[in-house]
Amino acid sequence: MKLSNPRIRPATPQDAKAIAHIHIDSWRATYRGLVSDEYLDGLDYGKRELSLRDWLARKEPQHAVIEVAGIVRGFCDFGRCRDNDKPETGEIFAIYIDPSFVGKGLGRQLMEYAESRLFAKWESIALWVMEGNDSSQGFYVHLGYAPDGRRAPLHIGGRKMRMIKKKQPEASLSC
Ligand SMILES: CC(C)(COP(=O)(O)OP(=O)(O)OC[C@H]1O[C@@H](n2cnc3c(N)ncnc32)[C@H](O)[C@@H]1OP(=O)(O)O)[C@@H](O)C(=O)NCCC(=O)NCCS
Repeated sequence: MKLSNPRIRPATPQDAKAIAHIHIDSWRATYRGLVSDEYLDGLDYGKRELSLRDWLARKEPQHAVIEVAGIVRGFCDFGRCRDNDKPETGEIFAIYIDPSFVGKGLGRQLMEYAESRLFAKWESIALWVMEGNDSSQGFYVHLGYAPDGRRAPLHIGGRKMRMIKKKQPEASLSC
């Protein structure tokens, strides 16, 4: 069931704890079998929270959270694309929804929030997704992203692939 009135707002360093929990829980739910158990089991909420405080204090990339009934249930980071071959492009750096809130419309709303800000500056948006993360790839395809053929190794093992979405021309108004 879709949730009707979640609230999206910029994230602050005070959100570090909530984001750390969502990030690690989501990694464990999504990447088991794709990334080593040793790596996933070794992830530490406290250490993640500490590193997130600095990350969230940065103005670039931008950080957003989505709340349901005042509790953070997802987050997204987005900004200028980091890839040398895509200088004038936006990028979704990360999007993660609390595993118990997946499939309720929060991911689409966060993506639309980030996309509206990125498309105000750039004509296309890039993102990287782990090969084998089929459900997220399906989600991105559903929202209009397509692989552009670029692949790269991941520092945690496995590979990632890049997907791109182009800005759609505004529908012309006619009477
Ligand atoms: C991927 C993720 C962000 C999507 O968020 P979500 O809240 O579950 O997605 P939503 O419920 O908003 O779904 C939005 C739309 O995508 C569709 N969709 C979702 N997964 C899909 C899939 N695998 N294939 C096709 N469509 C899909 C939904 O049906 C929905 O369609 P509609 O809005 O047209 O009715 C979330 O599931 C998540 O955090 N996954 C784990 C972490 C992860 O892999 N993050 C991405 C790292 S690259």
